Amino acid sequence: MTNNTTAAFDAHANEYDALRRRLVPCFDAFYGAAVALVADLGPQRVLDLGAGTGLLASMIASACPDAELHLLDGSARMLDQARATLGDRLTDAHVADLEDPLPVGAEDGGPFCAIVSALAIHHLDDAGKRALMVRIHDGLRPGGLFVNAEQVAGSTPVLNARYRAQHEAQARALGATDAEWDAAVQRMSHDRCSPVEDQLRWLREAGFTDVDCVFSDGRFAVLSGRRPA
Ligand SMILES: C[S@@+](CC[C@H](N)C(=O)[O-])C[C@H]1O[C@@H](n2cnc3c(N)ncnc32)[C@H](O)[C@@H]1O
Repeated sequence: MTNNTTAAFDAHANEYDALRRRLVPCFDAFYGAAVALVADLGPQRVLDLGAGTGLLASMIASACPDAELHLLDGSARMLDQARATLGDRLTDAHVADLEDPLPVGAEDGGPFCAIVSALAIHHLDDAGKRALMVRIHDGLRPGGLFVNAEQVAGSTPVLNARYRAQHEAQARALGATDAEWDAAVQRMSHDRCSPVEDQLRWLREAGFTDVDCVFSDGRFAVLSGRRPA
């Protein structure tokens, strides 16, 4: 299932991982906050939405040695990289769109203990994000956790401009070249980022409890919510 966004990732799947630390300047704290939440839960089954090359999933694999890992992404080539990285830690990889039904039926093993995502859901428009939050809630076991490590918008044009300038300055300080930054800007033209406060409200409206933003650094934030037990 390839759309314009997933086709862009398909074309650059091979170079994706090497660039990440330059383009996500708060890489360790950002992914670390998401992984810590999941590890605290000690989940048996985890679904990673927009899993790409398996960056987040491989960190969860290390932190949760007993967890089954199920990945979903619209780019078959990104998932090929994930298969190579995760090896026998990968339980299942679904090539599917984030707007498709989630693989949570009885034939897929049922609802998940945790559903996670990193830097993927911002490719959907606001209505798509809200609909997905409802499907994620319904795809979790009671007490299950949703963790979304996400690229977000500022809540005002001034904050948005500040986040963008901060992102570029930090990426360049970490060695991103003109070509790397220009390509990232081109990819980010597909993004439809939403402010943290809107996303927290949508999570509550979808039925989540204990909704929180556990990490925030400019464009990067980690949001979470729990399906009530
Ligand atoms: C920036 S990458 C993030 C990958 C990984 N989660 C990470 O943290 O490195 C975004 C991923 O979302 C996937 N994606 C974007 N829009 C999608 C959609 N509508 N359906 C399925 N996957 C999508 C892309 O193919 C890509 O692999």
